[in-house]
Amino acid sequence: MNPALLLGRIQISQYSYYLRDLIHKNSQNKLFSEGLIIYQRFFEDSFLNELNHYTVFDDYNFSSARKVISETDTKRVLLKINKVIEEKIKPYLGKNLYCTEYHMLTLGNKTSTDGSYQPHHDYKGRRVKIFIWVNNSKEKTHPLYYLQGSQKKLKIWNTYEQTRFKNTLEDEMFKFSGKKGDMALFDTHGIHSHFKKTTGVRSVIKLVFENFGFNYRLSDRSLKGKEYLKKCKAIKID
Ligand SMILES: [Fe+2]
Repeated sequence: MNPALLLGRIQISQYSYYLRDLIHKNSQNKLFSEGLIIYQRFFEDSFLNELNHYTVFDDYNFSSARKVISETDTKRVLLKINKVIEEKIKPYLGKNLYCTEYHMLTLGNKTSTDGSYQPHHDYKGRRVKIFIWVNNSKEKTHPLYYLQGSQKKLKIWNTYEQTRFKNTLEDEMFKFSGKKGDMALFDTHGIHSHFKKTTGVRSVIKLVFENFGFNYRLSDRSLKGKEYLKKCKAIKID
């Protein structure tokens, strides 16, 4: 698609959310105010242990690697977080919600200052990403970094470089070093991540939620939207 048109579409989506928030804003839901919610010890060990096979690699000589979680296992996770979806994600994103990504994301023993290891936003407008920590590490592992409140800023980007915020200071950002069973929700339109300086291996279940419609990034009635959902093997939530 013509980048200018794509930008136009993303602009519409940002305005749509701005107007929607005037009605749906809720001080109990920190996605609106901070763009981030943390739950500690949300999952029991026994459930996470059943998904441990997705974290196993021959070696861990990489900065990060991911494996697609089966649809059956993803639906088991979705069931466990149903209350969170209903109370936090749906009010924040709106109706016509899909889970568009479901991976086990494993961080290996290589450091990195590239790509997603720079402070950035995901250049897809408002989406909610969930990380669920499935194991502990004896070594120091890479925390989740988030610039709270940055999800509320209207953003314009024409190039990839405009989505990177390399000068964001680590100390300005909220840092969360999750432990097994912890869960974080955050809006990927906010500035997140930072340079990976740790070599400890750890894994998280990564889920992405996005809503579809004419006023948003993609409509599930358009050819482009349908193709995207098919490519992601998206799971319809509501
Ligand atoms: Fe990202």
